[in-house]
Amino acid sequence: MKIIIINGPNLNLLGKREPGIYGNLTFDAYFDQLEKKYQEVELEYFQSNIEGEIIDKMHEVGFTYGGIVLNAAAYTHTSVGIGDAIKSIKTPVIEVHISNVYQREEFRHHSYISPNANGIIVGFGLKGYELALLSFQE
Ligand code: DQA
Repeated sequence: MKIIIINGPNLNLLGKREPGIYGNLTFDAYFDQLEKKYQEVELEYFQSNIEGEIIDKMHEVGFTYGGIVLNAAAYTHTSVGIGDAIKSIKTPVIEVHISNVYQREEFRHHSYISPNANGIIVGFGLKGYELALLSFQE
């Protein structure tokens, strides 16, 4: 089964960015670990700081892949377009947030992704991506 992890803006800086909130590990290092642990899964990774590129990627994979693990980062709280993209495709989407957004500022409590996602994993650090991956396994 093909599964893609899609990360939104500023998540390319994981490891450097606010380590007190997001930890010290780069996403590449974490993704390496995931690939080694789940060799039976065809795992892909895409990151963009550009809203339209995230939507384009969802359209590209969203009729053939088995699952999308989506951390839309700040676009979670602003993007009607990404919310609509989930409704427009067939592939199920699991929403992930590294931090517990509900312990943070009020503006992070609203998500345009959640009403359209198949499930939501929040506040488990990078492990949330693995939990999302497991949710696609039979
Ligand atoms: C985040 C939470 C968002 O509020 C924030 O804008 C991010 C990362 C998380 O993974 O905790 O960039 O999605």
